[in-house]
Amino acid sequence: MLVTGGSRGIGAATVEKALTEGAKVSFVDLLAEEGQALCDRLGSDVFFQQANVCSADELGQSVCNAEARFGPVTGLVNNAGRNSYCDPVSMTEDEWDAVFDVDLKAAWLAARAVLPAMIAAKKGSIVNIASVHATMTYPGFFPYAAAKSGLVGMTRSLALDVGQHQIRVNALSPGYTETTLVKEFFAQNDPSLQAQVLDVHPMRRIATPAEIANCIVFLLSDEASFVTGADWRVDGGLTARFAG
Ligand SMILES: NC(=O)c1ccc[n+]([C@@H]2O[C@H](COP(=O)([O-])OP(=O)(O)OC[C@H]3O[C@@H](n4cnc5c(N)ncnc54)[C@H](O)[C@@H]3O)[C@@H](O)[C@H]2O)c1
Repeated sequence: MLVTGGSRGIGAATVEKALTEGAKVSFVDLLAEEGQALCDRLGSDVFFQQANVCSADELGQSVCNAEARFGPVTGLVNNAGRNSYCDPVSMTEDEWDAVFDVDLKAAWLAARAVLPAMIAAKKGSIVNIASVHATMTYPGFFPYAAAKSGLVGMTRSLALDVGQHQIRVNALSPGYTETTLVKEFFAQNDPSLQAQVLDVHPMRRIATPAEIANCIVFLLSDEASFVTGADWRVDGGLTARFAG
């Protein structure tokens, strides 16, 4: 299987969980030092390559190398992603494209690279890591919600188009999860925001990356053999609540 953005956070937890379930795991990331360190720690059933998921060439080469190492890639986790905090008026087209390239287009590029092997194997599972922002959002995150909503829409389309080959495609939408991305978000805001966020969570805490990875690996696995075209929210009940 292949995980994008696997050097840290939810991606790294997914690499580790899939390995404990017996998978041979390739992952790609821009962060070479962190990726190699994780790979060295986890052993020979894990293979790291530095690659930018926005580059079709780099992704294509990474998939070829992963297949040479472990055989056909029949599991894909499109996890690489970034936040965006743009102003809709002053934002440039280049900034728009940079968000959509990572948070939406890259998932299609990676799927396109692995689908031929999945179709030949008549087996496959793709999990696209979207966000609760695909359903509800927060001021100041423009246009993250648009990209993640697009990813959920693409998940539905792909699920319909490849289902005949016994390939499943699902989205998983995490809520707040303890990763660098969220630490940076809290660091940029008033310290009271973190307490406020915890307070609106039914369990008064946010997720660990491992809790998200458990659900990702379940969706990837044969245990989820009749789940496709879905968007699973894993948010500790955050979006079950409205203001008040
Ligand atoms: N942490 C959260 O609360 C949260 C909530 C909802 C959704 N998500 C989504 O989960 C996914 C993982 O987020 P995280 O919190 O673990 O973030 P993170 O920043 O800790 O990890 C993301 C990884 O993706 C890699 N990456 C980014 N752009 C890349 C590119 N162009 N090519 C290759 N690798 C690239 C980064 O180097 C990093 O290692 C993202 O898609 C994010 O949008 C996270």
